[in-house]
Amino acid sequence: MTVSTRKPVIAGNWKMYKTIAEAEAFFAELAPLVRDVVRDGEHCEMVIAPPFTALSRVVQAARAANVAISAQDLHWEAQGAFTGEVSAAMLVEAGCTFTLIGHSERRQFFGETEETVNKKCRAALAAGLRPIVCVGETLAEREAGETEAVLTKQLAGGLAGLTEPQFSPIIVAYEPVWAIGTGRTATPEMAQAAHAFIRQRVAAQVSVSAADSVRILYGGSVKPDNIRGLMAQPDIDGGLVGGASLEAKSFAALVHYK
Ligand code: 13P
Repeated sequence: MTVSTRKPVIAGNWKMYKTIAEAEAFFAELAPLVRDVVRDGEHCEMVIAPPFTALSRVVQAARAANVAISAQDLHWEAQGAFTGEVSAAMLVEAGCTFTLIGHSERRQFFGETEETVNKKCRAALAAGLRPIVCVGETLAEREAGETEAVLTKQLAGGLAGLTEPQFSPIIVAYEPVWAIGTGRTATPEMAQAAHAFIRQRVAAQVSVSAADSVRILYGGSVKPDNIRGLMAQPDIDGGLVGGASLEAKSFAALVHYK
C-alpha cells in the first residue's frame, strides 16, 4: 500500500455507561485537556459514542472540544412499529455524525447478523451518518485458525454491494472479541496482521483506492499505556476504546498517544 495520509481517529464507546449529568461532566473536564489537539487540526479526529439518552444533550459541549458524537447502533427503517429502536434520521437530528454498527456485543447478545449490519450501513449512509463498522473473531475462532475466514465473512456480508462512493465514509474497527474488556490486548503485531488483512479484503471487495484510504481502528483493551505501540503499526489508524474512554483524563491521554 502507498504511504498513508489517513488521519487517525480516536473513538470512545461508552456502552451502557454514563447518565446525562455524567456525560456533561466528562466533556467539561475534557475540553481543556484536548485544546492542543483542536488547534493542531491534523493530529487526529476524536469521536465519542454515548448512550442514546445523552446524545442530544452533549452535542454542544462535545463540539466545543472538537469531539464528534456517534450513536452506538441504529435501526435500518426510517420509522415504524419497532419498539425500542432509533432511526438514522433521529440520530442525525440529535446531532450525531457517526454511528457504530455491528459491535460484537450486539452480535453476541442482540442477534446482529451480517445482513442487519448491511441494512444498517445503508440506512446510516443514506442519512449522512458515517458508519464505524465493527468486525472481529472470538477466542474459539482464533484458536481454530479461523480469524481470516471470520473477517472475510463479516466484511463480505456487512459491506455487501456497497459501491466505492458509498463505502468511502465508512470506518472499520477490528475488535477481537477475546480482547474486549478482558485486559488482554492483541499485540501490535497481531493487530497489524489483522488490519493488513482487512485492508486487502477491502481492496478485493471495493477497490485499491478505497483500501488505501479507509481508516481501520483497533479495539480491545486499548489503554494509555499500550496505545503507542498499536498506533506505530502502519495499518492501524486509530482506536475504538471502551473502558479507558470513560474518564476524561484517560481519553485525553489516548488522544495524546504520541
Ligand atoms: P474495552 O476497551 O473496554 O476492551 O472495549 C473495547 C470495545 O468494545 C470498544 O468498542
